[in-house]
Amino acid sequence: MSTFWKSRYALRTLGIKSSAIRELLKVTQRPEVISFGGGLPAPDVFPVQRFEEACHKVLQEHGAESLQYGATEGYEPLREMIARNMARYGILSKAENVLITSGSQQALDLIGKLLINPGDSVLVEAPTYLGALQAFNVYGAQYVSVPIDEDGLVTAHLESRLRAGPKFMYVLPNFQNPAGVTLSEGRRHELILLADQYGIPIIEDDPYGQLRYEGEHLAPLVVLDRENLRRDNGFALGNVIYLSTFSKTLAPGIRLAWIVAPEDVIGKLVQLKQAADLHTSTFNQFVAYEVARDGFLDQHVKLIRQAYRERRDVMLQALKEFFPPEVTWTHPQGGLFLWVPMPQGTDGQELFQAALAQDVAFVPGDCFYGNDSEEGCRHMRLNFSYSEPEQIKEGIRRLSQAVKRQLYHEHARV
Ligand SMILES: Cc1ncc(COP(=O)(O)O)c(C=O)c1O
Repeated sequence: MSTFWKSRYALRTLGIKSSAIRELLKVTQRPEVISFGGGLPAPDVFPVQRFEEACHKVLQEHGAESLQYGATEGYEPLREMIARNMARYGILSKAENVLITSGSQQALDLIGKLLINPGDSVLVEAPTYLGALQAFNVYGAQYVSVPIDEDGLVTAHLESRLRAGPKFMYVLPNFQNPAGVTLSEGRRHELILLADQYGIPIIEDDPYGQLRYEGEHLAPLVVLDRENLRRDNGFALGNVIYLSTFSKTLAPGIRLAWIVAPEDVIGKLVQLKQAADLHTSTFNQFVAYEVARDGFLDQHVKLIRQAYRERRDVMLQALKEFFPPEVTWTHPQGGLFLWVPMPQGTDGQELFQAALAQDVAFVPGDCFYGNDSEEGCRHMRLNFSYSEPEQIKEGIRRLSQAVKRQLYHEHARV
């Protein structure tokens, strides 16, 4: 490869790798492969007709405005609608506290830009969302990791990590990506108290909160935040920055998400976003507003919940039916993923190749750790939203063959 450009790359680009999942998605695009790999919504739940009508209406009624440059903060009616919707979950904010971003992925990048100096440490769950690690890596983040179990981040391990003085915590309280686990109510309170005691801000990433298939809704961290309660002005805007997205409730292709933060933080993020892309697509924001309004979004989320609950149940049932008894898995109450820890000594990459040979794909767990982890290698992340129920059953049957071969081959070698 020519060194002409390479020798000129900025230091921050060294060691940056492309997403293991994006690379993997390329391999799994053979039509015969059943993919539990990407975090893709089911294509058949996209509200295509509603989008078609909305596009038509936007062009008829706001043609020029929707095709023009717009405010960096985002389309005002959409920000107001988001603020109203979040208020139903106790997140009280004004449109001024909402910044529209081009996906939550951009929100993570802007937050990295805002908060991380090279060498700063960020407290993350182990495992955590790969895309956040990618975004923060560019800014030279180091990681302090806290393990998780079925009740989410293990708060008993938190205090020792907080003493090291991380710049902020990045937490996924609902149906975590990749493990599908949910932070219990008790641990939410513990986490908030410790964060307050040590003065550590929290980035709460919540793309899946509305996709709950069982159990009660739990208050988001932004609502429990002590600083917010002390201010007692009714607005959830203290030491927690909250992120959510339309990617899983409407469509990821429109690249629309939002950040909720105190107004001065939003002001700074707006400057950073101006440098990045001026603003998120005006047209997409007008269309998303038209699609979501008049109660459509709520109706649609109900339909998605129903479809994904069924797919989750089919996957859980198939795992029970086909997988060997020594393998366990998480039981997600919502979201898109479940997590399978294989017995000690299993090589996830070998298992991945064995699964591909059976025309089925998953994401090996090692890419979800801020710090290199032997532990991650033996985990599989399985997505249950994308494939149809029949395919899920067949995919798990095929995967079980690869798993058995791997396990019993391993045992034979011992
Ligand atoms: C935890 C988490 N955060 C952020 C994102 C990025 O979402 P978006 O499509 O809004 O960029 C995802 C996508 O899967 C995710 O799982």
